[in-house]
Amino acid sequence: MNYHKKSIRDVDVSNKKVLLRCDFNVPHDKKTGIIQDVTRIAESVPTIQYLLEQGAAVIICSHLGRPHGIWNPALSLASVAGCLQSILNKPVPITRDVLGSDTKALAGNLHAGQVMLIENLRFRIEEERNDPLFSKELASLAHLFVFDAFGASHRAHSSTEGVTEYLPAVAGFLIEKELAVMGAALESPRRPFVSIMGGSKVSDKIGVIRKMLDTADTIIIGGGMAYTFLAAQGHSIGTSLVETEQLDFAREMLQLAQEKGVTLLLPTDHMAASHFSKDAEPHPVDNCNIPDGYMGLDIGPCTINLYKNALKDAGTVFWNGPMGVFEFPAFANGTFAIAKAMAEMPQAITIIGGGDSAFAVEQMGFSNKMTHISTGGGAALEFMEGLSLPGIACLEDAE
Ligand code: 3PG
Repeated sequence: MNYHKKSIRDVDVSNKKVLLRCDFNVPHDKKTGIIQDVTRIAESVPTIQYLLEQGAAVIICSHLGRPHGIWNPALSLASVAGCLQSILNKPVPITRDVLGSDTKALAGNLHAGQVMLIENLRFRIEEERNDPLFSKELASLAHLFVFDAFGASHRAHSSTEGVTEYLPAVAGFLIEKELAVMGAALESPRRPFVSIMGGSKVSDKIGVIRKMLDTADTIIIGGGMAYTFLAAQGHSIGTSLVETEQLDFAREMLQLAQEKGVTLLLPTDHMAASHFSKDAEPHPVDNCNIPDGYMGLDIGPCTINLYKNALKDAGTVFWNGPMGVFEFPAFANGTFAIAKAMAEMPQAITIIGGGDSAFAVEQMGFSNKMTHISTGGGAALEFMEGLSLPGIACLEDAE
C-alpha cells in the first residue's frame, strides 16, 4: 500500500461541501450516553477546524458500536454531537435519520463554516455491506470526501471505501499523522527497531508477528500470549492461558527468529497467582517454569530488566498489548515499567499501537511522552502487518 496520500492541504475546499468520515466509535455509558474517552473526538478536531476555517461546509459521519442495521438509541451519536459542539464552540446538529429526508435537508442547507453530524451510519445495514446505492447517495451530499477515521480504515464499508467511487477522496490530518509515523516505521525504521507484543492471545497477532520477523531487530513478548511461547519451548506454565492450537505457530516463529537473526525475548520470571482475581495474592516465580496450580498474570522483575535493557538503545519502538493483567494493580508492574521505559527514550520513535496499550499509557500518565499513540486498535495491527487497508488504499495518491 502506498503510504503517501493526498491530504486536505492539497485541495481547495472553500465553498465546498465536504463529507468527512471520522471514527467516533468511542467508549461510552450505554444508559447515560456519557463518553468515557474523548481521544478519538479530540484527534478529529484539527481536521474539522481546518476545513471550517478554509470555508467548507462540513458533513461529518461515523459509526458507533455494531447495531448491524437496527436503530438503537443506546448507540446514537447524540453525545458525540454534544461533545463536538462544546469543543468547536458552535452548533453541531445531528440528523434524525441516516440518509433520509432530514439528512438531505440539513446537508442541502448547510453553509460554508457550518458543521453537522449524520446519525450512526450502522443504523443502516447498507453501510457495512458497502452497498453501491447507499454509497452513491452518501456521496451525493458533498463535493469532496475526506477520510480521517484511521480506526475504521481496515473496514471496506460504504463510508470508508464505497463512497470514493463517486467523489474525489483525500486524507485528513489524523490519517496523515498515522501514515507518516507508522508508515515510516515500516518503510525505513530508525534502528534498532524493537517491537513489543503483548495481550492475551497469539491468535490475534499472527500476521503482525510474522511481519515483525521481517522488519524488527528485536521482538519482546509479554502478556498472556507469552505462555503459549513458553509452552512451545517445553516449559511448564501451570494454569496460565495457553492456545494449544498455536503451539506449532509459536515453535515456527522461534525457529524463524533464529534463522533471521532476530532477537526474540520471552519472560524469564513471573508474577503468578492461584486464581484470576483482582484480589489474588501475587506469587513471585523466579524462573521460566510456573508451578502447578498457578497462573502467570504479569512478567517478573528480572524480565522487566531484560526488556528495559533491550529497549535502551532502540531507534524505533512499536508496542501493542499489555505485559500482564494491568487492570489488577498487583499485576500492573510489567506494563507500567514498559510504558515508563518508553516514556524515557527521547532519542527513539515510540509508537503505541492503539487498544489496551494506548489505554494503559494514558492511564499511567505517559501519553504526552510518546511520539505517537495510534487511534486504531485492529487497524493499527493490520497496518503494522503490512496489509493494504481499504479505507486508505482508495484515497488519491500524493503527486
Ligand atoms: C474500532 O473501534 O476498532 C473501530 O472503530 C472499528 O470498529 P469495528 O471493529 O466495529 O468495525
